[in-house]
Amino acid sequence: MSKRTIVTMPGDGIGNQVMPEALRVLDAVGFAAEYVHADIGWECWRKEGNALPARTVELLRKHKVGLFGAITSKPKKEAEAELSPALKSMGHHYFSPIVTMRQIFNLDICMRPCLSFPGNPLNFIRKKPEGGHEEPHVDVVVFRQNTEGLYAGVEWTNPPRQVLDALRLHSKFKPFDRVPPDEIAISVRIITRPAARRICEAAFRHAARFGYKSVTICEKPNVLRETSGMMEEIAKEVQRQYPQIPLWSTNIDAQTMWLTKNPEDYGVIVASNLFGDVISDAFAGLVGGLGFAASGNIGEEVAVFEPTHGSAPKYAELAPPIVNPIAMILSAAMMLDHIGETEKSLIIRRAIAAVVAEGQVRTYDMKRLPGGAKALTQGAATTTEMTDAILEKIGASVESAYAVSSRT
Ligand code: NAI
Ligand code: MG
Repeated sequence: MSKRTIVTMPGDGIGNQVMPEALRVLDAVGFAAEYVHADIGWECWRKEGNALPARTVELLRKHKVGLFGAITSKPKKEAEAELSPALKSMGHHYFSPIVTMRQIFNLDICMRPCLSFPGNPLNFIRKKPEGGHEEPHVDVVVFRQNTEGLYAGVEWTNPPRQVLDALRLHSKFKPFDRVPPDEIAISVRIITRPAARRICEAAFRHAARFGYKSVTICEKPNVLRETSGMMEEIAKEVQRQYPQIPLWSTNIDAQTMWLTKNPEDYGVIVASNLFGDVISDAFAGLVGGLGFAASGNIGEEVAVFEPTHGSAPKYAELAPPIVNPIAMILSAAMMLDHIGETEKSLIIRRAIAAVVAEGQVRTYDMKRLPGGAKALTQGAATTTEMTDAILEKIGASVESAYAVSSRT
């Protein structure tokens, strides 16, 4: 079989520390791939005035699948101040490369699994009414619409007259009409049927493929009647093609309140952009937070997988590195699922589960230690030690699979 080519974009800061760890794991499960490095992030902005160079876009267009680490971004003024002298005052504007990438390739499906590994000291525990505690098993996958809604970027402070004129057509705008325009900020929440359908279909497809028992649409249709209303209506429509999977409907506010009450009852959750962003972070917090939070940005042609965390600049210079590579490794496992290598991704998840369950090797976040080099003297494992432990489990499971196949 010919080798796949994967575009690797480590980016900035700890992105450079966790990416090589994911590649070691992919090698260990026998994933035959060529990796092409692509530049992205702050250094590209400083030297080229563009955090997502055209050559990186071309590599993604050509090879279709990318692994991304993390980037650093800074507010407008700082960004412009750090631009190389030759580029200053040439009209360059900083744009987030990951947002730009989502727009260029229409990576409209954001998938964020939130899976608790038994034995993880960061897992959520709940008081039992009769005394003592219990640890519910959380296995939720959030499907967040990634390109529309309140994050579409259609917004104004001091909106132009034509916009205000259009808004005056709506009777509910009356109270705002008395406010001077320069005292008004507007962000538009746009939902389109095709995009809503794609995210709902992706959610049900995933639930069916991996045996989740329900899909929950998490919106606010009783108040946001048009936009959340459309999302809910389409979720109901799509559900009809999956009679075996019930559709539940929750409101974002209530869902956040119920989060800690019965997280084990949820399977796949689907939501528009902002609500999906909120609820996926909320669920991630129950299962270990940033060190465990993986994600995929999936379009019709191109897909990019990345940990949810950023570049954590304050730890980026530490040698040896201390950050948890699991979020990046789980992102690589999601990539394997995406291209149909589900046996390999299962081996990776089992290996991570075994290391977490044993509890011998834990990075500083898992030990709830303050970050920094000192954590290592307090028993925290380094980034590499965590990967080594995972590799050891993968080695054992590959060996036992080999033993089985050589017996038969
Ligand atoms: P961050 O996610 O980089 O770090 C926040 C804190 O979380 C860290 O200080 C560390 O304590 C912890 N943390 C993050 N990743 C960890 C890991 N793998 N293992 C253990 N602990 C981990 O977010 P922050 O500090 O708000 O932003 C830093 C930079 O990253 C900023 O420039 C920001 O714009 C950028 N950023 C980039 C993202 C991306 O590339 N998708 C996402 C979030 C922030
Ligand atoms: Mg990231």
